Amino acid sequence: MSESKITKSHTSLENKSALFAILTTVALLVGGLVEVLPPFLMSSDLFVKPIASVKPYSGLELAGRDLYIKEGCLNCHTQMIRPFKWETDRFDPTRAYGDAPYSKGGEYVYDRPFLWGSKRTGPDLWHESQIQPSAAWHKTHLINPREVSENSVMPGYPWLFENKVDADTVIGKMETLKNVFDVPYSDEDFAKAKEELADATEGDAMIAYLLKLGRDTANIEGQ
Ligand code: HEC
Repeated sequence: MSESKITKSHTSLENKSALFAILTTVALLVGGLVEVLPPFLMSSDLFVKPIASVKPYSGLELAGRDLYIKEGCLNCHTQMIRPFKWETDRFDPTRAYGDAPYSKGGEYVYDRPFLWGSKRTGPDLWHESQIQPSAAWHKTHLINPREVSENSVMPGYPWLFENKVDADTVIGKMETLKNVFDVPYSDEDFAKAKEELADATEGDAMIAYLLKLGRDTANIEGQ
């Protein structure tokens, strides 16, 4: 086929730059809308199946979560067990992680932003509450990891146990999460947070957070 009609009309279109730009934009918009609109129109339950036992972070746990971000723990740890056998079996099966099911979307509904991470210099922490349930162990480990884990390359974070948590900031954050993201915090949760945060160190908050990881779904079978 020599110089077909299509080639000719295409060339003439390309010569009309304004019209061509408009038509290109329309084409891109249609493609974009087809991808972007459905999630807004569908119920979010279709994407993330809610898990009833998963509860929002308490004030102290929330403070710990922020410190996890601030101290860069994310650079060495992931928080997601992928649905692969070598992943669910990664540790000794006598440890809770070995039996733990892989992570589900519904476990992360209160995680803003997600802290899944992508680098595993250290182990995945999503089921830390079952792997290492002792707060005392975490305190020793956070102050100096080599005291309980020989040759560990994890840095120590002794200052966490010297700095106090700023309760007002955390309460403000809980209010924002409730008002903007509909996190179902009750008056009781706020009262409990004020109590917990009154004299808490950053270390207390970090440990509370680590002991929350995986706790809400620990005993759910086949979820
Ligand atoms: C430079 C990388 C690195 C950074 C940064 C890091 N870790 Fe680690 N972490 C490790 C390594 C390696 C291990 C395994 C050895 C050990 O137990 O210390 C580990 C182990 C752990 C464990 C024990 C996991 C288990 O079940 O055996 C916890 C809990 C932990 N880290 C929490 C944290 C927290 C909280 C932070 C931030 C305050 C942090 N890590 C920052 C590398 C890191």
